[in-house]
Amino acid sequence: MSVIKVALLGFGTVGEGVYRTIQSHQKELKAVLGKNVEVVAVLIKNKEKKRDINSGVLITTDFEDIIELPHLDVVIEAITEKEPSFTYLKRALIKGYHIVTANKEMFSSHGRELIELAAKQKVSVGFEATVAGGVPIIQTLQQLLKVNNVYEIQGILNGTSNFILTEMREKKQSFFEALKLAQQNGYAEANPSNDINGFDAYFKLMVLSEIAFGEQPEQKYVKINGITDITSEQIEMAEKLGLHFKHIASIERKEDRLYASVIPTLVSKSHPFYHVEGVENAVHVKTDLVGGITLQGPGAGMFPTASAMIEDLVQVFQRHSTLGNSLKNKSIIKKEAKDQDIS
Ligand code: NDP
Ligand code: HSE
Repeated sequence: MSVIKVALLGFGTVGEGVYRTIQSHQKELKAVLGKNVEVVAVLIKNKEKKRDINSGVLITTDFEDIIELPHLDVVIEAITEKEPSFTYLKRALIKGYHIVTANKEMFSSHGRELIELAAKQKVSVGFEATVAGGVPIIQTLQQLLKVNNVYEIQGILNGTSNFILTEMREKKQSFFEALKLAQQNGYAEANPSNDINGFDAYFKLMVLSEIAFGEQPEQKYVKINGITDITSEQIEMAEKLGLHFKHIASIERKEDRLYASVIPTLVSKSHPFYHVEGVENAVHVKTDLVGGITLQGPGAGMFPTASAMIEDLVQVFQRHSTLGNSLKNKSIIKKEAKDQDIS
């Protein structure tokens, strides 16, 4: 195999970013993988949209055209909603292809099943882009979990809501002006209600929960509030008191039970998230050995997200060690890593 053949599902903000990065970083990819990487097919929904895609690349609205191709190595998925994403990725795994996904809505529900299937098929799943855009939190957690026990994670996990709160405070924009700008910048979801109501952050928190704790909390121990009730007046008054509103997602294990929340919170200067502004995300992880560590960086947008997916693309070929080093008993992610080590 002299070329790594990629099918790309989706050519929106993220899909286009991945495509352009594969073009612009051929040299780096070849250096690390020893082969050229070629996008051979792109799946989209609307055939009428103009796209800057090389002639010779199959552009189709029918997944059957992609799955029936004689040979692929990896399917990179950046479409929206749980379905048809889950079905497409399952079929790709059954064909023996590696998969890389950015779709946290799908992965927070179906990640376990995909990882189990991948282990059976002796292929890999990359999902770094499902949480915090370009911030390498998944790999960091997996690295930490070799020996450390995580007991709490807090994060600003949605770039759009942090961007809106920052614009409202710093530039006195209205909520809707700021949301519009987040959409224009490619930060917001196709349906931005998940961003502003806290569900996008919740999906990401559930992906982290699976890695850190090997399970997700029961629904009765989850609380989700959005940012839509925060007014410009409240933001201004808080600022006068030296406080910033932050939309904080957190999960904590207490006496063997997980408690999770996504809620707007007032933080003071001493809080690690006080200076996390705009589209930046941050994740603070507390463990028994290292104490607390914080990762921060761009949480959404074309190239930060493409960065996570391209690093995953490399990882799936180098793998068999990256998916999950968690020592938690229930962690399916750990199980897959074990299965892959044996292979
Ligand atoms: P966009 O809305 O910009 O793009 C979605 C793409 O998927 C479009 O090309 C669309 O086709 C295609 N698509 C959607 N549904 C289907 C379908 N059923 N069949 C075929 N093609 C389909 O979304 P983003 O690029 O912003 O996000 C993509 C995924 O990445 C989402 O799951 C999102 O949550 C996730 N993500 C997004 C980030 C961001 O910063 N934007 C960051 C991290 C993750 P068409 O072009 O024809 O409309
Ligand atoms: N809509 C998401 C956000 C994209 O604003 O954080 C990154 O997952």
